[in-house]
Amino acid sequence: MCSYLIYALLILSSLITDMCCLRIAELRISPPAVQRGARATLECLYDLQGAPLYCVKWYRGRHEFYRYTPGDRPHARIFPFSGIYVDLSESNSTQVMLQKVGFALSGNFSCEVSADQTFSTAIASAHMEVVALPEGLPVIVTERPQYDPGDILRANCTAPPSRPLVNLTFLINAMQISPGLLRHQPADEGLHKAELSVSLLLLPEHYLDGPPILRCLARVLDLYNKVVELPLRESDGPPRIGRVTSSTGCKQSNVNYMTLAVMTIFYLIKFKCVT
Ligand SMILES: *[C@@H]1O[C@H](CO)[C@@H](O)[C@H](O)[C@H]1NC(C)=O
Ligand SMILES: *[C@@H]1O[C@H](CO)[C@@H](O)[C@H](O)[C@H]1NC(C)=O
Ligand SMILES: *[C@@H]1O[C@H](CO)[C@@H](O)[C@H](O)[C@H]1NC(C)=O
Ligand SMILES: *[C@@H]1O[C@H](CO)[C@@H](O)[C@H](O)[C@H]1NC(C)=O
Repeated sequence: MCSYLIYALLILSSLITDMCCLRIAELRISPPAVQRGARATLECLYDLQGAPLYCVKWYRGRHEFYRYTPGDRPHARIFPFSGIYVDLSESNSTQVMLQKVGFALSGNFSCEVSADQTFSTAIASAHMEVVALPEGLPVIVTERPQYDPGDILRANCTAPPSRPLVNLTFLINAMQISPGLLRHQPADEGLHKAELSVSLLLLPEHYLDGPPILRCLARVLDLYNKVVELPLRESDGPPRIGRVTSSTGCKQSNVNYMTLAVMTIFYLIKFKCVT
């Protein structure tokens, strides 16, 4: 007897779920990383499967800021939330347009859809990131104007202020230099200026294809991607090590290689002691 009742309930509940097939596909924010001060469109993709819409509620975190109810006049209601400016003319039952977005709005947004009659509800969430990209290119500064094999290269790469912080990477030719010290200084309006310092012992292999090229890669999410290059100048004077092809020059270059090897070992030891 009891089991019949359970079967009946199961069949009934499956019928009800078939009837009220409110489905939310997703909450789509475009652009996902929005420039501070710009506009962002939040789109709620749902399918009521024929049922009439009761209402759509929009949340930033747990705070409701916009509600669309077709049965109400007017349809739209705004609940004040610091920093949210809804553009009513561009908002309706499927989307909300935010204008003049500020950093404080970075966070989770949700839309909650309720169908009329069945009273079924569904919810979708997405994260919005408010960014400020660097204005301009990063700048490389080296300690000295000229570098030869055996020298220690000390350089900084500094990016214009941004939020989030710029990710900086140094390369010598195409090889990544193990990251040095990354500093960040606060700038205006909650932005930060990133500065990466490196020091590297220059080896003859860095000079195989001519003077080495120092590169600084700067990246913010997928939105800002820059490379700046600085070819290192060799000091003027006699022909450089490893470039001499005459027989006498060969001897000369061997001697230089010896000096260089000694210097390299010296610097390696010095570096080991320091670190
Ligand atoms: C909501 O507004 C957008 C842009 O104005 C429009 O593309 C979309 O079709 C509208 N949706 C509905 C359900 O009216
Ligand atoms: C935002 O949503 C993500 C994924 O649902 C969650 O992991 C995170 O804790 C949420 N953040 C906040 C501040 O609620
Ligand atoms: C790199 O930056 C640090 C700190 O700002 C500074 O002390 C150092 O002199 C800079 N080095 C070069 C090569 O500019
Ligand atoms: C920064 O960029 C480097 C090289 O592209 C990458 O290995 C590293 O994971 C990035 N760091 C962050 C915090 O994105």
